[in-house]
Amino acid sequence: MRIEIPRELERFGANLFYGVQKVYELDSGLKPDEPADHPCTVKQLSYEQLYEIEKDMVIVIPTKGEKLRLLQGVLYGIPHQCLIIVVSNSPRQPVDRFSIEKDAIERFCTFTRKSVLVIHQEDPALAKALENAGYPELLDERGTVKSGKGEGMLLATLLARLTGKKFIGFIDADNYFPGAVLEYIRIYSAGFALRTSDYALVRISWQSKPKVMGSGLYFAKYGRASVITNRFMNSLVGYTTGFETEVIRTGNAGEHALTLDLAMLMEYASGYAVEPYHLIYLMETFGGLNHSLQQDIIQKHIEIFQIESRNPHLHEQKGDEHVEDMIFAALQVIYHSPVTPKVLKKEILEELRSRGSLKKDQEPPKMSFYPPLGKVNLKTFRHELSGHPCAAFFQPVPAENPLVREHDGKRSRKKTGVKAHRL
Ligand code: GDP
Ligand code: CO
Repeated sequence: MRIEIPRELERFGANLFYGVQKVYELDSGLKPDEPADHPCTVKQLSYEQLYEIEKDMVIVIPTKGEKLRLLQGVLYGIPHQCLIIVVSNSPRQPVDRFSIEKDAIERFCTFTRKSVLVIHQEDPALAKALENAGYPELLDERGTVKSGKGEGMLLATLLARLTGKKFIGFIDADNYFPGAVLEYIRIYSAGFALRTSDYALVRISWQSKPKVMGSGLYFAKYGRASVITNRFMNSLVGYTTGFETEVIRTGNAGEHALTLDLAMLMEYASGYAVEPYHLIYLMETFGGLNHSLQQDIIQKHIEIFQIESRNPHLHEQKGDEHVEDMIFAALQVIYHSPVTPKVLKKEILEELRSRGSLKKDQEPPKMSFYPPLGKVNLKTFRHELSGHPCAAFFQPVPAENPLVREHDGKRSRKKTGVKAHRL
């Protein structure tokens, strides 16, 4: 991939928000170019370099009742070297949609010689493991994981952590173009290749979203929800720094990837607020406005890359109500953030009232957030799932048992009959 270096950089405490970067070549060759003798505004990232990152990447596909063809198309677009987790919340009754998905994925695995981890969000074994590992927040009154895209993503993030991989990327299951999926993943890898910190977030900004208009296609530049979310997020940055900005272009980006070190540090909002809240949470927590910053993070920074895809983004149209829900969820998190100044809160209220989402004198309700996954006892979580099919994907833990020693260059176990304890 050949990609421009960011033209803009907005600092917000320890957060570095990079302006949108454009892709100049989807594939820029196998090996690194000869070094140029002049400074370049475009950076070459060789296939080899991206491949190494993808070997260390988990791709999570959250899905709920999407058309099977679409889910399959997404699978076809994912590079072989990535590990895939499908987290499904599809209905199991009256028709067991989940089992149909599983069959289709199994066939895909046979043809591609690949293993895909497929879980159902309501699997009781996963819920029990979460509860015992100290994360009951994700469970509802039935004792199963709550419904919602964000909730599925959290569960998958925890499983991804146990695979020992370094990066996690999310791809929605309702994408029409396998080629776009491949590009998004290459973009994730490009962002990670450019990072200088262990804490990095890469968000995709679509170049266009095609819509049918009359008898032709119209390539809209921005989604309806993104226009609003980005405007208010930029105001938040602008009011805080004192300089108006348009740096934020990916307020709603469903397609995004993080280093797992960062994913474990984040708090998460529920449902569709999850992506806008990423940025708000980073501003709240690492913006230096409310909290004193951890030394480690100040030194390393959090890098937020926004990269524009060349493929158009075409996914299932879910109607006007869905767009309004997304706008509401995004503005709700900005409204209730402790870093949002009064003047911006007033503007949000005006916007929501004029859209008819709030009545006069009404405020958006407060929302609850999920604490960072860092609080989960991973040892317990792993142990709880030791008999579960997902355990096959976990990175083996080096045995800590002193009875297991290196001996004559070979691994041997002292003959005591005690098995090395695997977590
Ligand atoms: P949009 O693309 O952001 O407008 O939202 P979508 O409705 O397309 O949802 C994004 C992705 O999340 C799709 O792949 C959905 O199938 C999936 N999704 C939605 N709700 C849930 C859920 O409760 N659990 C899981 N695991 N996935 C969900
Ligand atoms: Co969608």
